[in-house]
Amino acid sequence: MSTPQPTREDKFSFGLWTVGWPARDPFGDTTRPPLDPVESVHRLAELGAYGVTFHDDDLVPFGTDGAAREQHIKRFRAALEETGLVVPMLTTNLFTHPVFKEGALTANDRDVRRFAMRKVMRNMDLAAELGARTYVLWGGREGAEIDTAKDLRAALDRYREVLDTLAQYSADRGHGLRFALEPKPNEPRGDIFLPTIGHALAFISTLEHAEMVGVNPEVGHEQMSNLNFTHGIAQALWQGKLFHIDLNGQHGPKFDQDLVFGHGDLLSAFATVDLLENGGPDGGPAYDGPRHFDYKPLRTEDIDGVWTSAAANMRTYLLLRERAAAFRADPEVVEALAAARVPELATPTLAAGETYDDLLADRSAFEDFDAEAAGRRGAGVERIAQLAVEHLLGAR
Ligand code: GCO
Ligand code: MN
Ligand code: MN
Repeated sequence: MSTPQPTREDKFSFGLWTVGWPARDPFGDTTRPPLDPVESVHRLAELGAYGVTFHDDDLVPFGTDGAAREQHIKRFRAALEETGLVVPMLTTNLFTHPVFKEGALTANDRDVRRFAMRKVMRNMDLAAELGARTYVLWGGREGAEIDTAKDLRAALDRYREVLDTLAQYSADRGHGLRFALEPKPNEPRGDIFLPTIGHALAFISTLEHAEMVGVNPEVGHEQMSNLNFTHGIAQALWQGKLFHIDLNGQHGPKFDQDLVFGHGDLLSAFATVDLLENGGPDGGPAYDGPRHFDYKPLRTEDIDGVWTSAAANMRTYLLLRERAAAFRADPEVVEALAAARVPELATPTLAAGETYDDLLADRSAFEDFDAEAAGRRGAGVERIAQLAVEHLLGAR
């Protein structure tokens, strides 16, 4: 069996908050000591990652200002320079501090909203300084438990106001940032606004700078809603809105597990990698951004387990990429896809220049069409499903 090694060209990135999670959960205390961001940068670089991302407070503890803040940034920058790691994305912590308990950018309290907006703007400046191109907004506290205690439509107005303002700010300052909204249905709020990729895409279409805003879908978040992640990102790609991606694992609708990529629904992960790597117009990659892992090393693990899990994300991705390439290159797969008429879907339903009048005049399309015969014909999908499973299992 081959042993693919991650390289910088693979564009693997990790959040500081992933490997650095000290593993406190709602029922139990931390099981691991805090991890110095500088240490994380070095270890991730050694393991073959190309990038590191963070929330403002992952690097500079909440409330740290002035010279102390600069010192944190300086140390971190030095680590980036030593390792060559880049910072493709930055985001804001608008969920840990009690001030955000009722919401941040959509809090009922206007002062909280103004504070939250300033917190984002300050970190956008840092993002631009560090060369990040994407700014993620995950609205963990933007939501409600009690529907009657929140004006739901006003909350969307405020969300839109923020995005319009921040996009203008990025443009005016020449920051060159694009925004990526990260949907999640619930947790920590009972219900979070913009709960799925579909909600986010619909919301984005109403924005003043819609072209600057896309999505950062996370595998587990769509699966928490029992939705198909691959279908979700396919639509985002189709609309030119897959600005970033959070890869991880999840076992269906339950709490957010943030497992290692592939340690949840493996067949779905195979389809996701196949789409990202082979779904482009020429059979090449459909997405060229960072392959970002947003996972939590299991609470059972010590620090060795943390680095084992970080490496596992990348290795699993590479193995799936290899398996997907083999699937696409297999002549029997090509033949099975053709037999199932999969390529035929790319042919427009009307011929070039054909009008609906022409369609109405075409007796073969309706009057003479043998719907019974077409209804008896098998689609040939089971064969494709098994070929995929066999490639995934390394049996072909
Ligand atoms: C989650 C989310 C978060 C966000 C991150 C970026 O698991 O609930 O993925 O981890 O991605 O906080 O803001
Ligand atoms: Mn998550
Ligand atoms: Mn995420």
